[in-house]
Amino acid sequence: MKDNLITVGLDIGTTKITTVIGEIAADGSVDIIGEGTVPSEGIKRGAVVNLERTTAAIRNSVLAAERVSGVKVSQAFVSVAGNHTRALTSHGLAAIRRSQEITAADVERSIENARAVPLDPNLEVIHAIAQEYVVDGQEGIKSPVGMHGVRLEVDVHIVAGSAGPLANLRRCVQEAGLQVRGLVLESLASGTAVLDASERDQTVVVIDMGGGTTDVGVFKRGNLSHSACIPIGGDHVTTDLAQILKIPLEEAENVKRKYGAALPELADPDLMLEITNASGATHAISAFDLSRIIKPRIAEIYGMVRDEIDAALGPVELIASGVVLTGGGSLLRGVSELARERFRLPVRVGRPRGFGGLTDIVAGPVHAAAVGLVLYAAEQQIRLNQPPGGPVVSPGWTGNGSQPRPVSEEFLPDLTPPQIEDESKTVIARPAKTPKTGDEKTLADKVKNFFKDWI
Ligand SMILES: Nc1ncnc2c1ncn2[C@@H]1O[C@H](COP(=O)(O)OP(=O)(O)O)[C@@H](O)[C@H]1O
Ligand SMILES: [Mg+2]
Repeated sequence: MKDNLITVGLDIGTTKITTVIGEIAADGSVDIIGEGTVPSEGIKRGAVVNLERTTAAIRNSVLAAERVSGVKVSQAFVSVAGNHTRALTSHGLAAIRRSQEITAADVERSIENARAVPLDPNLEVIHAIAQEYVVDGQEGIKSPVGMHGVRLEVDVHIVAGSAGPLANLRRCVQEAGLQVRGLVLESLASGTAVLDASERDQTVVVIDMGGGTTDVGVFKRGNLSHSACIPIGGDHVTTDLAQILKIPLEEAENVKRKYGAALPELADPDLMLEITNASGATHAISAFDLSRIIKPRIAEIYGMVRDEIDAALGPVELIASGVVLTGGGSLLRGVSELARERFRLPVRVGRPRGFGGLTDIVAGPVHAAAVGLVLYAAEQQIRLNQPPGGPVVSPGWTGNGSQPRPVSEEFLPDLTPPQIEDESKTVIARPAKTPKTGDEKTLADKVKNFFKDWI
């Protein structure tokens, strides 16, 4: 096993840190051979706030993945999230000498010119992603090398991050014993893992709903063409539930996962939850009312996603043909249905695809970004091995169909019924028909009242 064919994705999220080890074969196919996930420590809204704790968590996740794969790793592609990231699109131009073919150097020059846009000196460019090229006014060109023309233009999507948070991130990874091979925006990594071949021919919005952030990427014909990081995620739903129901965060997390839904209409109409708060008082809330607490938060996130896209590219339902939800937040029941209602587009939940090996272990949407980092690395590797004259790309380019992927799945609704499993001490689920006490009614009514103008 040659060392340069082993690639590591290190996804540093607010909820968990995941290391995925991949083996890239000569034909570009990828096998996942190791995985390690530990709870995230020292990260807030995507950025490092405690160096020691983050370093220790990274080390533990890497060790766990190394144990599974039996391979010792020394470098990694690392995900970047956080609202310190900025995205903008810049235009670049390169003049071509008359009667000469466009060369790779001309393409690089056009990208470099687009990159020369004045940026805040505190910002460091993470990606400069070339969109389609225009040669003498002719639009929609993917690979201009070898063409004739006198004027080569390109739009480049530039993603930058504040130097401080990026330096902290690098330092934690290095102190954990790994070299940073590359930084990759979270939404770019996730999109690389979840988009299928047909989505790579269209414009699709990828929404990775994590714990503290929701990372958004608009992919146009496989290229990241707009991105944003929204500092709200699934953990805010948990906090809302904990505050309103007066229960500990872990309990609120359990309640959310087992009984919560983003659309009250999808909640089990016959389910009542009996909740014992910290002072020992018992109240009841229906699964329907529980979901009425959850809905406004998810709707708020979707509203912010819509505002971002509308401002940068125009109305989302006009520019995109679908939405792919991923990340842990996409596992909440009803998020697809609410997204369909809010974006007026087909919506599906995206799971990592396009690889072999430990497919069952990294099959869920929570693994999208980590697996995406490895697939992204594989695409870079393939590109480096391409013969001269092939498509020329900037460092962040995510190419079209560099590995075989299954054809598009239907955009199916996600209607898994809630699982009522082991009961905890503070929250007990039972059928709604059980008579309510006066107290229970009061809490349910209070919640209803509180949200009546909001929902
Ligand atoms: N089964 C589930 N149902 C509802 N929410 C879930 C589920 N699994 C995970 N989540 C939520 O997903 C979020 C974590 O997503 P994840 O992608 O792992 O985050 P990050 O990448 O920020 O660490 C948390 O808010 C968690 O509550
Ligand atoms: Mg994440």
